[in-house]
Amino acid sequence: MLTTAVWNLKGGTAKSTTSLNVGAEIAKAGFKVALVDLDGQRTLSFGLGMDGTTPTVLDWLSGKSDPLPTDFKNLFLVPGDIGIFQLVPDEDLIGTSLKRIKGFDLCILDCPPSLGFASVQAVMSADQVLMPTLYEPASLKGVSEAIGLIRNERPDVPVSVLRCRRRSRLVLSREADDMLIAGAVDMDYHLLHTSIPENIAIAESIAQQKPVFDYDAKAPGTIAYRSLAKELMKIWGLK
Ligand SMILES: Nc1ncnc2c1ncn2[C@@H]1O[C@H](COP(=O)(O)OP(=O)(O)OP(=O)(O)O)[C@@H](O)[C@H]1O
Ligand SMILES: [Mg+2]
Repeated sequence: MLTTAVWNLKGGTAKSTTSLNVGAEIAKAGFKVALVDLDGQRTLSFGLGMDGTTPTVLDWLSGKSDPLPTDFKNLFLVPGDIGIFQLVPDEDLIGTSLKRIKGFDLCILDCPPSLGFASVQAVMSADQVLMPTLYEPASLKGVSEAIGLIRNERPDVPVSVLRCRRRSRLVLSREADDMLIAGAVDMDYHLLHTSIPENIAIAESIAQQKPVFDYDAKAPGTIAYRSLAKELMKIWGLK
């Protein structure tokens, strides 16, 4: 099983939205996917209509539960729990719990925007990191900082940067692209070819508690997340 940590130090960069939609697309392509909601805010669980579903991530971390089936074939979830904010473990709970997951092709760890234990253990355990960032120069400083932190601990882990919420302000987008292309060389990350546009259907689908493809099959957000899933499956060797 491949494990991906979806992480950025900065909040609101579409980490949970990306975990949900990438996971759902890859599950639709026939791979068995486990999503793990490591954030006490529980956006990912909410987006699948499973906020409040038990057993939660706290049970999973103590070895008492497995990922639960969702309404979507091949897509499973370990639901979030606000209690994770109070956990200060002195052992590698996430690494140990990941070793117990059997029979899955991919596990996606949706991390909180922090350096708490959940993010640290997820990034340390994962085979690769997916870092969504907003498509604007101001957010890109956060990317350098976050990648610097990863590189201190894991110089060789593959990191893919995803541009999210692209708007049509060309000057800003071009400036952001230039910074990201230069950064990819300096900081040794892979800049994903696919970017995700700002699209109201994406925000609405979360409110409707479903992946965007199930909310509006023709929305620009649906098409973008499908292309992204294809690109990631290729990079991650899911054939
Ligand atoms: N492409 C998009 N177009 C429009 N709205 C979007 C898009 N991507 C994400 N959003 C909205 O942006 C907000 C933040 O997204 P999300 O919760 O996925 O970010 P996050 O990085 O997980 O946040 P946090 O750091 O708090 O965990 C949500 O309201 C979501 O619906
Ligand atoms: Mg989130």
